[in-house]
Amino acid sequence: MTDTWQVLLDSSTLRGHLVEDARIGLTAAEKWLPPKYFYDDLGSDLFDQITRLPEYYPTRAEQGLLDKYADEIAAVAGAEMLLELGSGSSEKTRVLLDALDRTGHLVGYSPVDVSAGALRAAVAGLRADYPTLPVHATIADFDVHLDELPAPGSRMIAFLGSTLGNYPPEQRAVFLSGLAQSMHAGETLLLGLDLVKEPARLVAAYDDAAGVTAEFNRNVLRVLNRELNADFDPDRFAHVARWDPEQEWIQMRLRATEQMQVQLADLGLTVTFARGEEIRTEISAKFRRDRIAAELREAGLTCEHWWTDDDYALTLARRLDG
Ligand code: AVJ
Repeated sequence: MTDTWQVLLDSSTLRGHLVEDARIGLTAAEKWLPPKYFYDDLGSDLFDQITRLPEYYPTRAEQGLLDKYADEIAAVAGAEMLLELGSGSSEKTRVLLDALDRTGHLVGYSPVDVSAGALRAAVAGLRADYPTLPVHATIADFDVHLDELPAPGSRMIAFLGSTLGNYPPEQRAVFLSGLAQSMHAGETLLLGLDLVKEPARLVAAYDDAAGVTAEFNRNVLRVLNRELNADFDPDRFAHVARWDPEQEWIQMRLRATEQMQVQLADLGLTVTFARGEEIRTEISAKFRRDRIAAELREAGLTCEHWWTDDDYALTLARRLDG
């Protein structure tokens, strides 16, 4: 079985977005950068290492729930296609693919990711273990390309890893209603969501003892150096992970350890940092059942199931009309 590839996002377009986002974020009164630029090949590899850290429980929790409930999820969803947003290494997906396969209806798997390198490795790995499964890989930014995602059969769309938490609330609402609009009647969305819990555990998950998350955080500066001819010195930025009890999200930040100037040659931009000044690099919102159910309803999706171990949850929501 041969794989098919679709490129909705080429590297020059991605770079164009980076140019725009870096200019907006780094000239703002409170500096920020969008988290999607973490995931170049090195960043994707560092994220993979994060998922194996003792402190980073979400990946294991999610895998545990998928292992336990995959057959139930597959039965309820009744899908022919698994489309996965932000598929990364596609490791967690296998148990879902196996369960969907056992229903006898599975006709294909469609991983979607911004990282071409991660997709290539994932597809190669799947090919070895699923020799007859049609795989249609899409390099895309699902912020931009929701309407162009493949839909060759009735889909279950998986959005795992609590990546939904990267959106602040207004953007999350826009994303969820856009996604719901792109779904056909009867199709489902399987969300993996990290839940609100004791702050100490949350902070440890984003500030591990081995310093892998710190390297992952600083990697965004290396991406800017390479893509925009910038001269950030990543060693002069300290990793910060903070729990915000009002917003119920973790923020990752990079704090300038001294006063400095950074040139972004391709933008013709010089950015000044005061000592101690921070760049917000990621928010990772944590969820509660009632609130996310209301948000999904608002977007036009109906929550049908909720599976949880109290740390983490999987929820299946369906587009009923449309
Ligand atoms: C993949 C975005 C869900 O927010 O937990 C891990 C990324 N950042 N450690 C998360 C991440 C720092 C992760 N998401």
